[in-house]
Amino acid sequence: MSEALDSYYLHDSYRAWCKTQGVPFVEDFGIDMLAMDVAPWDRYGMKGAVCELVGGDDFISTFCFELAAGGKSAVLQHVYEEVIFVLSGHGSTSVELPDGTKHTFEWGPNSLFQVPLNMPYQHFNGSGQEPARLASTNNARFLINLFRNETFIFDNPVPFADRAGAAGYFTGDGELKPIKPGRHQWETNFVPDISNFELKAWDARGAGSTNLRWILADGTIGCHTSEMPVGTYKKGHRHTAGTNVFCVSGQGYSLFWYEGDEDFTRVDWHHGVMYTPPENMFHQHFNTATQPSRYLAVQFGSTRYPLFEVKRQIWDKGVDTSLKDGGNQLEYEDQPEEIHKIFLRELDKNQVESEMGEIFDEDAIRAKM
Ligand SMILES: [Fe+2]
Repeated sequence: MSEALDSYYLHDSYRAWCKTQGVPFVEDFGIDMLAMDVAPWDRYGMKGAVCELVGGDDFISTFCFELAAGGKSAVLQHVYEEVIFVLSGHGSTSVELPDGTKHTFEWGPNSLFQVPLNMPYQHFNGSGQEPARLASTNNARFLINLFRNETFIFDNPVPFADRAGAAGYFTGDGELKPIKPGRHQWETNFVPDISNFELKAWDARGAGSTNLRWILADGTIGCHTSEMPVGTYKKGHRHTAGTNVFCVSGQGYSLFWYEGDEDFTRVDWHHGVMYTPPENMFHQHFNTATQPSRYLAVQFGSTRYPLFEVKRQIWDKGVDTSLKDGGNQLEYEDQPEEIHKIFLRELDKNQVESEMGEIFDEDAIRAKM
């Protein structure tokens, strides 16, 4: 589209803003955020890049930031919400509350946090040797498209004191809100390491599956972490678009397909890789590592504040209710036959034993491979 036409026809204010930022704008189905190029991003005082996930929704945007060794970000403040997952490096973040109280917390690989809404903050890289990479999942896309006003978004004096939470929420304390499997919440502002945090059983989701929902800074961006034991995979499912999935630990792959497709789209993942399952596309995650594999999912709307009626329904029942019963989950016995064959081949390559033999007749499946 010509520039003139773009200004008054089908305009995307968020993409137009991205173009003015002077950093890479990378569009792909899956992106390795540890390997991608970054460039100085003046607004943030760090290097960075914009990740544009194919199949993403209209609310979530994803940025990769890099803090140089010994470096610091600009002092930042914004009325968009942002969940930071630390991909690599060590550092700290200082936050100033509306009453003038300051909190500083130290993070490292696999830390997860959200600075409470619109509170001024600054990131510091605590290492003189090593850069730090941060993955930001945020709702800047939605706010930029809605307001088209950087002053409103980045220089807004309105305090949100009720978002601060308990003082301990900045240092790794939190509160477990037990609900039911797959919905238990851990409320905090900062989790030092989601790779070793104790998750809760969620048997309905697949063999040995565990999970926990993170409620960060009482925000509306929902996140959860799930784990698959060695030699297992989760059940397939489908839902609305806009969930960023990050590999935390382990390795494996995910398959994506629409009902009736003959082939799968595949993303292989390891720490640093992220992708987003498109609207209503079946997806399924497979662990091929010799250790459990964990992932982090981040999206607009949470089990506390779903924001959408469809998400309220998914988290109430659909997320682990079979398609046959009106839910979103594809039971093992209903999945395409090829899926378990692919899994066994991948395990063979990695010399990992399947732990799914009680669910599938693997001798019979292998005879057909
Ligand atoms: Fe999903």
